[in-house]
Amino acid sequence: TPLSHIRNFSIVAHIDHGKSTLADRLIQSTGGLELRDMKEQVLDSMDIERERGITIKAQTVRLHYTAKNGETYVLNLIDTPGHVDFAYEVSRSLSACEGALLVVDAAQGVEAQTLANVYLALDNDLEIVPVLNKIDLPAAEPDKVKEQIEEVIGLDASEAVMISAKSGLGIEDVLEAIVHRLPPPKEGDRAAPLKAMLVDSWYDSYLGVVVLVRVIDGELKKGQVIRMMGTDAKYPVDRVGVFTPKMVQVDALGPGELGFITASIKEVADTRVGDTITEDKRRTTTMLPGFKPAQPVVFCGLFPVDAADFDDLRAAMGRLRLNDASFSFEMESSAALGFGFRCGFLGLLHLELDLIATAPSVVYKIHLTDGSIQELHNPADMPDVVKIDHIEEPWIKATILTPDEYLGNILTLCQERRGIQVDLSYVGKRALVAYELPLNEAIFDFYDRLKSISKGYASFDYQMTEYREGDLVKMGILVNAEPVDALSMLVHRNQAERRGRAMCEKLKELIPNHLFKIPIQAAIGGKVIARETISALRKDVTAKCYGGDASRKRKLLDKQKEGKKRMRQFGKVDIPQEAFIAALKMD
Ligand code: GTP
Repeated sequence: TPLSHIRNFSIVAHIDHGKSTLADRLIQSTGGLELRDMKEQVLDSMDIERERGITIKAQTVRLHYTAKNGETYVLNLIDTPGHVDFAYEVSRSLSACEGALLVVDAAQGVEAQTLANVYLALDNDLEIVPVLNKIDLPAAEPDKVKEQIEEVIGLDASEAVMISAKSGLGIEDVLEAIVHRLPPPKEGDRAAPLKAMLVDSWYDSYLGVVVLVRVIDGELKKGQVIRMMGTDAKYPVDRVGVFTPKMVQVDALGPGELGFITASIKEVADTRVGDTITEDKRRTTTMLPGFKPAQPVVFCGLFPVDAADFDDLRAAMGRLRLNDASFSFEMESSAALGFGFRCGFLGLLHLELDLIATAPSVVYKIHLTDGSIQELHNPADMPDVVKIDHIEEPWIKATILTPDEYLGNILTLCQERRGIQVDLSYVGKRALVAYELPLNEAIFDFYDRLKSISKGYASFDYQMTEYREGDLVKMGILVNAEPVDALSMLVHRNQAERRGRAMCEKLKELIPNHLFKIPIQAAIGGKVIARETISALRKDVTAKCYGGDASRKRKLLDKQKEGKKRMRQFGKVDIPQEAFIAALKMD
């Protein structure tokens, strides 16, 4: 296919505005899939994604469309992740395209995430066609939303395509707009050394690691030995192909083309989104701009609820690792929770498995007095304070879009979380606020709080910015004068007292009475900042039974014994596992 007949595009949308439905329609109406296949082969093809309902991995489909002018075009649809944690991946997927469809729900209007992704598209110089979806809904207000698109984003929306992805209305107009309003790929040099971008990669249980590539110059062929310039590794190519969306092998991929390769790559971690792929024996001289190795910024502990599930958990972590280069894990043992793993993530993504997830912690940079820098992944590993010169923490820039009436509460929330307001403007009746926030303050329940104080109407997006110095201290928890390492955390000095008091109160509720008084203290260094006391009291679970029913009495005693087994002993004090779970999960 000549380049003039190729269009590489992606769909930019807020979650739930109808990206997947539109993609399915485009595939269906160009004959890419039979209806009965559609359930099997949706763009979000991984089980984990289907279960959680979000798109994690970018994928691509090649569609053949015969336009009204009688010409046949190859349309490559590159799917981008819809989640706020993947700004870098989205940006790389977009840079493999020349254009994008901006899908906006005509009943909901522009959301913070829509904005964030549109800006990424504009940064990559993409041509953007606005598409108003769900115009079948009685609540749809296409004219108002068009105005919003012009006012907020500055895009001409007068020729926005009006569709209902659900009913199929307007799908042909979308296809015509892709052909006539989005540009073809730039002319590359087929004779030049190979230069291709690694757009994405994932693990397939039959093929191993599959790499999605966009060729800029040269040719990618089976049997070639390729070199990844960022990771400096070489691999022989065993397969070259395209997605229709089924995987079909082809002889070669040329400039402007998108496709996949497999090359005996063991782990997804060996591939880096945005990396430049070249031929080993005939290398290109310059790498593609914008490459950034993925680095986890949030860590948390994961422990099985039942210790017997440890091996299953290990296997599950291994599978995640195969699939996701941004995920890392190592074994961790905790006096409180037994054996588990310390896991690293790119951002706020929450794992929804039946596990005890300890409070997530960001990666702090500890500058030591000897001039070295230590990356702290777990507060329990904090070096001695006398060795610390200063501590830096990661910051984000958050963009929040909210109906006006909730603005006051949202500003208060951001202020409480040490936020610095950088912008406030209006999009119709909605306020658009930009805040700089320490990531540490946003990983706990920020998103949930935001949703609850705005009755679900506020939308949120964020981007990592930089590390900044902060007045951070390690807060320890002492139960009966014994430090409990698993409960220690890094907090900002101004937040320490509030957090410490909350933690002590919670533990007081959760630790049963013993035969002696138990002090619970929160301390910074040697200084106690909060204290609660559990009074001495014999907890006699059978007291209420008046000795009447012997079998009931025995049952209660058995239950108490069972409970005891799950206790962990700290000094003379038994702490139930539930207390750790509740304490570690809390804000
Ligand atoms: P994520 O997969 O979560 O990123 O969402 P998405 O943007 O892919 O949205 P999806 O296509 O899953 O659609 C979200 C919901 O909107 C689904 O319940 C769709 O059935 C519905 N929907 C999509 N298009 C239309 C439409 O044109 N009209 C109506 N009424 N509903 C639609």
